[in-house]
Amino acid sequence: MELIEQIKDRARLLQNRIVLAEGTELRTLKAAEIILKEKLARITLLGNPQIIAELTQKEGINVSEAEIIDPLTNAKRQHYAEMMVEIRKSKGLTIDEALKSLNNPLVFGPMMIKAGDADGEIAGAINATGDVLRPALQYVKTLPGVSVVSGVFFMLFKNKAIGDNGILVFADCAVMPDPDEKQLAEIAVTTAKTAKAIANIEPRVAMLSFSTKGSAKHALVDKVANATRIAHEMAPELMIDGEMQLDAALVKEVGELKSPGSEVAGKANILVFPGLEAANIGYKLVQRLAGAEAIGPVLQGMAAPINDLSRGCSVSDIVNMVAITANQAG
Ligand code: ACO
Repeated sequence: MELIEQIKDRARLLQNRIVLAEGTELRTLKAAEIILKEKLARITLLGNPQIIAELTQKEGINVSEAEIIDPLTNAKRQHYAEMMVEIRKSKGLTIDEALKSLNNPLVFGPMMIKAGDADGEIAGAINATGDVLRPALQYVKTLPGVSVVSGVFFMLFKNKAIGDNGILVFADCAVMPDPDEKQLAEIAVTTAKTAKAIANIEPRVAMLSFSTKGSAKHALVDKVANATRIAHEMAPELMIDGEMQLDAALVKEVGELKSPGSEVAGKANILVFPGLEAANIGYKLVQRLAGAEAIGPVLQGMAAPINDLSRGCSVSDIVNMVAITANQAG
């Protein structure tokens, strides 16, 4: 069975409550109809109920089973605002500022999760990544023991000989512009867990660089080598190796030549890039030139799943991301 079908089957069993923060956006409403029809999750749409009613009527969309919440008038505003003031007391947030912030569905959604009124959220069809992520980072925060939120892509290839049965996992393609060595190590360990949880992949993690095992000398190479060492300390059971070049990570003969004896070189299924520039450009190259399907970014390390869509997303991208978010909520 294809990965996305497995993810949808698990989502159906879980019946988690997912907030669609951009509830007055057409693709989001079309996706909500499909999600409800396929029973992938319970859905809350944020937005003005009258606008949603007019739009769904005009377009012939049925979202009657969705909960619709207007962040401007909802009865829980005061409660959420008090929670926000408590969470941000060191930053001096006032109750008036919190109430004003809650007018923004991108703040209201994470607060629903924080208060236990929802299990996950997605947005980003009409908002920039930073605007989706900032309130999530400020209020939902990270999992215990995790300091860095990052984003992975599941790259799906028609050629099943690539990676793990046609799947490679790339990180961090979405969040941390310039991770230090400790953050890079954390991204590697978290990505291995995500790959296992979502795609049941037995992780073999390559820490990518422009050097393999000291073939080049540079501070950027040291960063990846040190991150590999720290990741080993954090998760000694994990198959992780680096620093290594992309060909050493993926091509058996090159791996054996450049990194003999490695349990990762030549057979990596998780690629951890040294920074966001390389990772973001890298996944788009593989998507556009190799024709791989890119599922993500799946955000990881947050205390509850909140995922960001691309503004160019399709209705089926939103449906898939809801199913993934529901899986992450467990
Ligand atoms: N993990 C955990 N917490 C974080 C992280 C992170 N990766 N980044 C920021 N934070 C926390 C900060 O500590 C801060 O907490 P505080 O307010 O409690 O002190 C809060 O989040 C806000 O952080 P700032 O640095 O003030 O916010 P900023 O907006 O500058 O940065 C952001 C956060 C939005 C994630 C930024 O790093 C960013 O824009 N990253 C790039 C996103 C992007 O454009 N990706 C590419 C597009 S996505 C794609 O193509 C698939």
